[in-house]
Amino acid sequence: MPDQRYGGAMRLCGQRDTGGGTALRHELSLLQRFADTFLKDVNLGVLLINPSFEIMDISDMACRVLGVMRDSVVGQPMDRIFTDLPAEHQLVDRRILDGIVVRNHAMSWTNNRERYELLVDSNVLRDDMDRVVGAYIIFKDVTNLRSLEEQVQRSDRLAMIGQIAAGTAHEIRNPLTSIKGFLQVLRRTFQDQGMNRESGYTDVMLKEIDRINQLVNEFLLLSKPKNVTFEEVEVPKVLREILPIINNEAILHRVVVQYEAMYGLPKVVADRELLKQVFLNICKNGIEAMGEGGYLTITEKVDREERKVLIEIHDTGPGIPSFVIDRIFDPFFTTKSEGTGLGLSVCQRIIHDIGGHIRVSSKGFGTTFTVSIPFP
Ligand SMILES: Nc1ncnc2c1ncn2[C@@H]1O[C@H](COP(=O)(O)OP(=O)(O)OP(=O)(O)O)[C@@H](O)[C@H]1O
Ligand SMILES: [Mg+2]
Repeated sequence: MPDQRYGGAMRLCGQRDTGGGTALRHELSLLQRFADTFLKDVNLGVLLINPSFEIMDISDMACRVLGVMRDSVVGQPMDRIFTDLPAEHQLVDRRILDGIVVRNHAMSWTNNRERYELLVDSNVLRDDMDRVVGAYIIFKDVTNLRSLEEQVQRSDRLAMIGQIAAGTAHEIRNPLTSIKGFLQVLRRTFQDQGMNRESGYTDVMLKEIDRINQLVNEFLLLSKPKNVTFEEVEVPKVLREILPIINNEAILHRVVVQYEAMYGLPKVVADRELLKQVFLNICKNGIEAMGEGGYLTITEKVDREERKVLIEIHDTGPGIPSFVIDRIFDPFFTTKSEGTGLGLSVCQRIIHDIGGHIRVSSKGFGTTFTVSIPFP
């Protein structure tokens, strides 16, 4: 009984089956078995394509990364499966069948759940007469390597900014404190003397000073948080404490906040105040992205295998374009006229320092930030 699974691979190597002796058949069945196990186990994306650009076989890992079911794609033309993707985002071009060899082509792929960084190779397969009988596509998932590389670059940049910040922040804060103090005295004097316009000016000045102070505080956090207190923290408690603040901000933008709590979420070890800052920053970004109206959903999850608590913050905003998404964690990267671009880099630092990470996924509509924090 021919193995259904190997319809494709068989047809490709079937060219050599001259219907000869048992030895050949035995060899073939061994090859089939190898191919079967190979495509199941191999930690590579493998696709076999016939000359009509139809998928003849696909490895399990390729199905997982591409977000497809094996049974629904085998026998289908490549370009019909990923119809909604523009040509430049297709895994490979039909022209690979003309003999165009692809080696280490770096590309990003986003399936319904995750974004992957892939290195793609492809080449044609020829028979003994040098006729093209198909092609193969092999890809490696290098997401972890890429993110490691990015992390190293990012921490280099953070370290540099940290040094500058640590050097200057205190120097800025000290004079600011005295300016603020004297301004408060002035405001009182103006108020006592009924000089309303002047006291209004001092109000504006005091507000601006608060803004500078806030910026400097963020700078200091980037350098090295000084008095961090690690303790066992119940994330849901932290979230409940900041929900009123998030709600206030949301009401201003006619956004509805939904909180999906999970019973029995394990405790994590973190600094409670810094955690609040992380969730506030991400929620604020979501609300700001939505503009007027929308839903902000905060969901608690747990990954017991990886021993991580996951907090997902989803908004129904416009999403993050792919040319922006790689830069959002960079210090000072902002698309807002009033933004400092420090929000997410501070969040990233805080979560990294407790062994967690922040992932983002955005597919044109809506954005989800997932904060994962290890639990002991
Ligand atoms: N939920 C989101 N939807 C769309 N874009 C987002 C979202 N979150 C972040 N961004 C993008 O990432 C950029 C960087 O965010 P970050 O929080 O670091 O800085 P900011 O919000 O611009 O400034 P700040 O946080 O200092 O006010 C934003 O300017 C925005 O372009
Ligand atoms: Mg922000």
